[in-house]
Amino acid sequence: MTTRYRVEYALKAHRRDALIEFIKGLLAVPFVLHSQPTTVAGDASFRVMAVEAGRRYREIMKDVEELINDHITYQRAGTPERSKLRFLVPSVGTFFTPLLLEKAFVAQDARRSISNRRFVAPSFNDIRLILNTAQIMSLTTLDGPLKLVTFDGDVTLYDDGQCLVPTNPVIPRILQLMQRGLYIGIVTAAGYTDSVKYMERLHGLLDAIKFSKDLTEGQKSNLIILGGESSYLYKSCPTSPTLLVAEPRENWELDEMRTWSETDIQRLLDIAETALRESISTMKLEAIVLRKERAVGIIPAIPDVKFEREQLEEAVLAAQKTLELSDIGRRLPFCAFNGGNDVFVDIGDKRLGVRCCQRFFGNISGSQTLHIGDQFLSAGHNDFKARMAGTTVWVASPAETVSSLDELWDLLEHGMPKGYDHDE
Ligand code: IMP
Ligand code: MG
Repeated sequence: MTTRYRVEYALKAHRRDALIEFIKGLLAVPFVLHSQPTTVAGDASFRVMAVEAGRRYREIMKDVEELINDHITYQRAGTPERSKLRFLVPSVGTFFTPLLLEKAFVAQDARRSISNRRFVAPSFNDIRLILNTAQIMSLTTLDGPLKLVTFDGDVTLYDDGQCLVPTNPVIPRILQLMQRGLYIGIVTAAGYTDSVKYMERLHGLLDAIKFSKDLTEGQKSNLIILGGESSYLYKSCPTSPTLLVAEPRENWELDEMRTWSETDIQRLLDIAETALRESISTMKLEAIVLRKERAVGIIPAIPDVKFEREQLEEAVLAAQKTLELSDIGRRLPFCAFNGGNDVFVDIGDKRLGVRCCQRFFGNISGSQTLHIGDQFLSAGHNDFKARMAGTTVWVASPAETVSSLDELWDLLEHGMPKGYDHDE
């Protein structure tokens, strides 16, 4: 049993989110004790069961909320390692705000019928969405005020490898936030040294900003693109031919990034390239290596090639481990990730990318920043590091991004609705 546990842990830890798994384990107990896996038509005990399970689930979410508050107290004292939550979930990181988990559970239970389910226990996705709602509720009603919203590109704003077209429903929602005076960053791994490429991919949004009658001229330049994780910054500029202008590095680069030498950058990319080439040959992938100024990746050799998830993850983990064991990989931040049908190693990461946005817009704090992305697993996912720079929402598709923005807008406009717990 122990050996099996260790093997499972060693092989799968990077594919799990420890806090979500912890909460899932806690909610499994009332599910097992209270759910009625029978199907007798008209059985009134179902209602009793749903009320009882719901009550217990809510109590547990309130308890986790308190654990997080306790962790925040230790964080503020500079001793997060002493919190009970750190003891229970050792990999837990920084919380920039408390999380209104009980209220968020009530909201998501109403949408997803969690307490009414008799055969399907509270799942990873139920908990991911409860955490998202709790984060949005806290940012709009407790902490904040929210000043900056950053978005990942692929799978968050548009489908993998696609462009942000004019009909994308996320566009009016982003414009609404800008009209309210919020700053917007698109923090994407896609790294191009030419603004034309970003215009091609984001033209729907950039055009909508240009032609908007509701945004002031000042608000129209409150959107930036941070490309290549943290390597290139372009600002929205409706009068420029590409609707974007490159910003001089001194306006946004962080002090820690100024110390990187070009020799180090190229040496890190050399090591990454060697590891990626090895993966191509050992797994006989129909792939080619793409080397850029600040990134190296493997992409399909011909358009229709589709790699297996396992192959992509193997290539990511091999490159990441090789770099972690090198001197240069310990000095220079990098990000190795699975891009859906490609693998990239980028110089920098989204922690730096989000921080550059915060700096550019006037030193916005982590508790006033929300990053929305789809890649939050600890290895092979590139939004994960953004958690170190601000609050986050973890989506599974562009449609979920739209729902989260609607939830955010509703709370910004109307505050917390009545009836979210018994105290109200
Ligand atoms: P994101 O989801 O917006 O972070 O974009 C990730 C995708 O951008 C990757 O899957 C690649 O297909 C693409 N991409 C293009 N250029 C680069 C690069 O220089 N580094 C990493 N990804 C890149
Ligand atoms: Mg993405």
